Amino acid sequence: MGLLVALWAAVLAHALARAGVLHAGEQPLSRIAIRRATAAVAGSASVKARPAVLGLEGQSSDWMVVEFSHPNPSNDDWIGVFSPSGFSSEICQPENWEDLPPFLCTAPIKFQYANFTNHAYNKSGKGSLKLQLINQRADFAFALFSGGLSAPKLISVSNKVTFENPKAPVYPRLAQGKSWNENRCVQDGSNNYIGRFNATTHVVVGGGGASLSPFRATVPYWSFFRDLDFGFVKLTALNNSFLLFEYKKSRDGNVYDHFTISRDYRDILACSIDNCPRTTVAV
Ligand SMILES: *[C@@H]1O[C@H](CO)[C@@H](O)[C@H](O)[C@H]1NC(C)=O
Ligand SMILES: *[C@@H]1O[C@H](CO)[C@@H](O)[C@H](O)[C@H]1NC(C)=O
Ligand SMILES: *[C@@H]1O[C@H](CO)[C@@H](O)[C@H](O)[C@H]1NC(C)=O
Ligand SMILES: *[C@@H]1O[C@H](CO)[C@@H](O)[C@H](O)[C@H]1NC(C)=O
Repeated sequence: MGLLVALWAAVLAHALARAGVLHAGEQPLSRIAIRRATAAVAGSASVKARPAVLGLEGQSSDWMVVEFSHPNPSNDDWIGVFSPSGFSSEICQPENWEDLPPFLCTAPIKFQYANFTNHAYNKSGKGSLKLQLINQRADFAFALFSGGLSAPKLISVSNKVTFENPKAPVYPRLAQGKSWNENRCVQDGSNNYIGRFNATTHVVVGGGGASLSPFRATVPYWSFFRDLDFGFVKLTALNNSFLLFEYKKSRDGNVYDHFTISRDYRDILACSIDNCPRTTVAV
């Protein structure tokens, strides 16, 4: 009965969402106006993270402590967790010549108000937070901001923290590419990928920001189509064997690039020992 009720609630929520009655819950991280961040680095402020190495027993998540002090504290101060740790000018270049430091190229993956555990933080300027981190295949750094979430001012950045084995296999997750020549598994450009595949098909679709940045002049060999415009991708599963990928421009909704992937579908879950082929077409 519990399951039936849960299913019905899901169906109802879906129906309401379709009717435009429900609004998607606000993702707390979306309140951080990281693009408006300014630099206000204070030498007398500090952020320290320990231990420097996590997951010493092979865990893919671990607890750690961030301690911070700020000579000019307020209830607006907050701590952001960044991964990879070089989230600012270490690895980021300004996108436009008008941009001023700090050049933050990633937004925090987690945050908490500096007064969270010490309610007297706004007087003492001292606080600490206990945080659980998940192995993200990249190291971490912690930053103290003042100015609240809407006008963040970068005050201080911590030492780096890493998992002992950051590349340990964990569960699948969406990855953020960092360098321009990543994702080199492409063998050849086609509008119709069919038959046996030698590797997983990856599609990286990115869009965001208020302005367009020109492409680099050199065209990497894996780049088959370029479009300097705002757009999005629609992925349609037509049946068990056939995926249609379409790139559309936001301005007119028309398709400007597309490809299909088709594979023989075999229900490998229906196999028992020795009555299925050793390999299937859908590798
Ligand atoms: C901590 O700061 C937040 C954000 O400014 C505020 O909403 C909250 O009331 C503060 N908590 C305490 C105990 O002062
Ligand atoms: C510190 O925070 C408390 C609780 O929010 C507030 O009552 C008090 O006025 C704040 N003090 C200062 C100096 O901002
Ligand atoms: C898979 O690898 C084989 C052998 O290297 C090659 O002949 C074939 O074209 C590859 N298939 C695809 C879809 O790239
Ligand atoms: C899947 O859909 C494609 C495109 O409509 C069609 O060509 C193909 O025959 C279909 N395959 C199966 C197994 O239904």
